[in-house]
Amino acid sequence: MSDFQSQYSDLQNRVEQALQAAVPLPLADWPSAGVPTQLAQAMRYSLLAGGKRLRPVLLLAAYGSLHDDLTPALPFAVAVECIHTYSLVHDDLPAMDDDDLRRGKPTNHKVFGEAMAILAGDALLNLAFELMSESKLPRAMDVIKIIASRSGAAGMIAGQTADILMSNQPADQDMVRYIHQHKTADLITAPVLAGLTLAQADEQQLHSGQIYAGNLGIAFQITDDLLDLQGDPVLTGKQGQRDAALGKLTWPAVVGVDQAQADAELAINTAVKAAENLGKNASFFQSLALSIPKRVR
Ligand code: IPE
Ligand code: IPE
Ligand code: MG
Ligand code: MG
Ligand code: MG
Repeated sequence: MSDFQSQYSDLQNRVEQALQAAVPLPLADWPSAGVPTQLAQAMRYSLLAGGKRLRPVLLLAAYGSLHDDLTPALPFAVAVECIHTYSLVHDDLPAMDDDDLRRGKPTNHKVFGEAMAILAGDALLNLAFELMSESKLPRAMDVIKIIASRSGAAGMIAGQTADILMSNQPADQDMVRYIHQHKTADLITAPVLAGLTLAQADEQQLHSGQIYAGNLGIAFQITDDLLDLQGDPVLTGKQGQRDAALGKLTWPAVVGVDQAQADAELAINTAVKAAENLGKNASFFQSLALSIPKRVR
């Protein structure tokens, strides 16, 4: 295992443990106490189903570029993964992408029904803000704002909205960039800026973090589009070949596969350059960026 891979998996393990501790348990004594059993099961089902944990790992790495003890940043890392997972549960619903497989398992609504999947998503979103609001870190409120706005109506949800509205519309490169920037890059930029802000990074580091993450996010979603088109469902844990069936405005649909690959590489080069200013985790951020166009899941 390379240094990068072992650092990534160490951070992933921290995240997994924190997620386990944060998500409600299905307790037998509901309704006298706790969370409704089925709701807790539906929340746990998607949140603890694996996944690369890219966003919380980015948050911890950003915080870790200036601090050795990552513990104070964990609630924010968990929160970002809760928001990401809620967005996936809702993204898979019949009214949106109508997908049957996620993280190698039947989608939430296939197991628990549509109503419970909507509620589990809602509950994960609220859990995120409850966890962050408990933090005593001096910049906690600023970070809650960063995460809320990048996930919200002008952020990830704006991208998801455009993704839906632009189905079966003519190819439009500016629009596909808008969709990628918001539905994906915003929720990759949020944890990088959150981690740096919690760590009280300076303006120059925040600026570099934003360039890094914005480009990483674009390359990440271009690769996601390519994996939908030509990836192995056994590895992606998703059905595959869904974007074309739904008439989605994807990067390869607009510019072709070869140009999409070239555009992803270009964004990664920009990200690698920006990562030079990211302190003691600069080389981790660079290796992570270089792994994105090669990813198979
Ligand atoms: C899937 O995200 C949705 C996109 C924004 C492309 P990931 O590819 O990070 O999914 P998990 O978290 O590893 O399952
Ligand atoms: C979803 O993009 C991005 C989200 C905000 C959930 P996709 O619809 O392409 O993600 P997958 O392919 O279903 O994971
Ligand atoms: Mg979608
Ligand atoms: Mg989808
Ligand atoms: Mg996709």
